[in-house]
Amino acid sequence: MYTQGYLEFHQETMDINLFIPKILQNSTRRNRTFSALFVVLSLISSSCKPTSIHIDGLSYSKQELVLKGKKPALVYKKAHGYMIASDSLPASEAGAQMYTSGGNVVDAAIAISLALCVIRPQSTGLGGGGFLLLHLNGKTLAFDFRERAPRLAHRDMYLKSTHSSSTSPSLIGYRSIAVPGMIAGLTKIHSLYGTLPFSKIAAPAISLAENGFRVYPDLSRATQKAWKDMTHGMQSIFSSPQSSGRSLQPLQTGDILIQKDLAKSLRLISQKGKNPFYTGKVAQLMALWMKQKGGLITRGDLNSYRVFLSKPLTAKYHDRKIVTMPLPSSGTFLLTMLNSLASQPLAKLYKDQKEKYYHSLAQAMKQGYEERSQKGGDPRFIKQNSPEKTSLNQSKKESQETTHFSIIDRNGNAVSSTQSINYSFGSRTILPGWGIVMNDTMDDFSISPGVPNAYGLTGSEANSIYGGKTPLSSMTPVFVMDQENSPILALGAPGGSHIISSVLQALVHDIDLGMNPLISVATKRIHYQYNPDILFAEPKIFSPSTQKELINLGYHIQFQPLWAKVFLVKRVKNQQGSFVFMGVSDPRGNGSPYGTSLPLPIPNE
Ligand code: DON
Repeated sequence: MYTQGYLEFHQETMDINLFIPKILQNSTRRNRTFSALFVVLSLISSSCKPTSIHIDGLSYSKQELVLKGKKPALVYKKAHGYMIASDSLPASEAGAQMYTSGGNVVDAAIAISLALCVIRPQSTGLGGGGFLLLHLNGKTLAFDFRERAPRLAHRDMYLKSTHSSSTSPSLIGYRSIAVPGMIAGLTKIHSLYGTLPFSKIAAPAISLAENGFRVYPDLSRATQKAWKDMTHGMQSIFSSPQSSGRSLQPLQTGDILIQKDLAKSLRLISQKGKNPFYTGKVAQLMALWMKQKGGLITRGDLNSYRVFLSKPLTAKYHDRKIVTMPLPSSGTFLLTMLNSLASQPLAKLYKDQKEKYYHSLAQAMKQGYEERSQKGGDPRFIKQNSPEKTSLNQSKKESQETTHFSIIDRNGNAVSSTQSINYSFGSRTILPGWGIVMNDTMDDFSISPGVPNAYGLTGSEANSIYGGKTPLSSMTPVFVMDQENSPILALGAPGGSHIISSVLQALVHDIDLGMNPLISVATKRIHYQYNPDILFAEPKIFSPSTQKELINLGYHIQFQPLWAKVFLVKRVKNQQGSFVFMGVSDPRGNGSPYGTSLPLPIPNE
């Protein structure tokens, strides 16, 4: 800790020393006095900057955390009734409204999902899909409503493409679109376990779409990045209201984004459920649109879309029961990593031999990611025991998209759900008249064994393209249960290939290192997927000696901000014996958790 603090101080001093001559060189005497004064004041203020923060009575070095200037109170909340952690405060609030109206965890989860579709159109949407773990009345269920390959898709469909990776037809345009599952998934979960009418659940999302919301920096950045690939129709929805006609400009921070067509879609779901989108008029329109544009989805694909409901995967880690999503989620590879760590004295290593701690983590990650690239795929289509060699690849692209939320409530119920349209703004197409951004999840298949996807992940034959098949996903929603099989942790993350390693570290921070929930999430992380053979690490995570030891162990270290964001809820019992729910929305993102200490209304049965 001390060494890292020293490192930061040393670097600040160096920067300022470099700065002085530049200012003084080209200035008058009066200016020089001001400049010197400025430098002295900067020095004083930088030396007065608090280097630690206090959370729940303990003090932590800021150097070890990623807070991105956020006040802990914004991203870390506590309550006695329930807690929701998501990547958007209005989405968390939409969930809270359901509880206030007498709804249950399912109603809250669907309201949050729909609100996120509106407020994070770059990350998730009705044209995407996801995974949802539900713990309700003592039973845990795993819902898979991820996108599936259209029946016309085939193994080598992207092989002849001569495009560069950034314009690859598996990532951009109509052929990158897989059959969406979001509407089927949410309506199915609602029909099985929801208690409020769908119209009530969709109301906050409809209002956000119809009346608009203020554009935040990440949304305007994502719009600007995707702009050139968007169709004109899509640009007109995501354009700044200050621009018009032929000279449309992308959304700016502070603009109000109104999505009338999306509100119409949400209203139709509220009134008629999924049918218009899978068998009725919208399905018909989508099939026609696909045909005109060279996409592959047919009415048959939409008619035959099915949500899969299965038992979750479970495993013991120390004295905890870990519950996660089976394949084609990456829960199984998270369990491989945990299994490889179970025999390591991680708490001791973290304290006394940090290089060995990070080495253990990296080796566990390597094992899990290797297994993923060799065996990962849709179990309905593959035999799991046919490992194949994979080739070297690069971690090509950074994407901050996809989204996750976690809920635990006082009734002992919980949800952990990761949802996505894959890359930022998906395929960069939008269903005309319905405001639905379409996914580009076909890129999650292995385009060819050994060829990396947008996240630098390679796959084998197990994840090859086949009509009806579900592409392998890194999304890994998790619960940790207590002895009574009741959730004490719900967590997950967006972040492409980094999802698994970030969820792993949040679990290790909580279970092995006993960290406070905010610290579990905010503590700097590493990521090692072996291919490429680079140990990615958040800047200044290592002391100089740890860094040296890791290099001696053979690691090629690259410092960079890591983009996965963990959304976690924890339930603990306080000294008075009552439950406290603690929610963390990763400070690396935009969200804020929401909870209440009001008693939960009696659920509507
Ligand atoms: O399912 C997957 O693995 C990807 N479609 C997830 C994409 C993602 O997390 C993007 N970024 N943050």
